[in-house]
Amino acid sequence: MSGPSLPVGTPLQRPRIVLVVAVAENGVIGQGGKLPWRLKSEMRHFRDVTWGKPVVVGRKTYESFARKPLPGRTNIVVTRDRALKIPGALVTSSVDAALDAARGDALRRGVGDISVVGGADIYAQTIANADRLVVTRVKLRPGGDTTFPPIDPTVWREIGRTDHAAGPDDEAGYSIHVYERQPTEIARNH
Ligand SMILES: NC(=O)c1ccc[n+]([C@@H]2O[C@H](COP(=O)([O-])OP(=O)(O)OC[C@H]3O[C@@H](n4cnc5c(N)ncnc54)[C@H](OP(=O)(O)O)[C@@H]3O)[C@@H](O)[C@H]2O)c1
Repeated sequence: MSGPSLPVGTPLQRPRIVLVVAVAENGVIGQGGKLPWRLKSEMRHFRDVTWGKPVVVGRKTYESFARKPLPGRTNIVVTRDRALKIPGALVTSSVDAALDAARGDALRRGVGDISVVGGADIYAQTIANADRLVVTRVKLRPGGDTTFPPIDPTVWREIGRTDHAAGPDDEAGYSIHVYERQPTEIARNH
């Protein structure tokens, strides 16, 4: 006997927490509140990976989006400023509240992922609970004031990689790596 059917795309498990980040060879991810490179094709990758999903973002990174919510995604901004209001975005006062809101949104949208899109402060507070990392390794060594830590191979295993030569609007080539938490780590995390 079969049970009631679920709408197509309804995730049966809790949504995965996916950190999406672009990192230079020296670990730099930001400079002066902005990205320290111009990589137009990588921006398209970012859009594709995050499209249709809840996106958790720190207030400083949100301001780098020209103060406009990313279209096609539920923007969930984390700030300690309880008075902050952002038209078109959900404002939360803790990382836990942001992830809770993102879980609800992912279930409503019928998507399996929550995208955590930085910056450094937000990555540092979410990586311990992340299920997956989507890391663009940028072939540059720019100056910068914000970094992402090296990825610990005892915690993360690479499950996919693609190489990209610099396109006409890219400052450098890059590779995109997908990591999943090692199975032993998943057991420890649950
Ligand atoms: N290369 C990449 O993939 C990438 C991705 C994202 C960002 N970036 C870069 O990273 C830089 C920004 O990173 P960042 O680390 O400086 O800032 P951030 O993580 O974007 O935002 C930090 C802000 O988030 C809020 N916040 C953090 N933890 C919180 C908590 N537990 N509870 C409530 N609010 C909390 C605070 O906002 P309030 O100050 O409002 O309280 C804090 O100032 C920029 O240069 C950006 O371009 C790079």
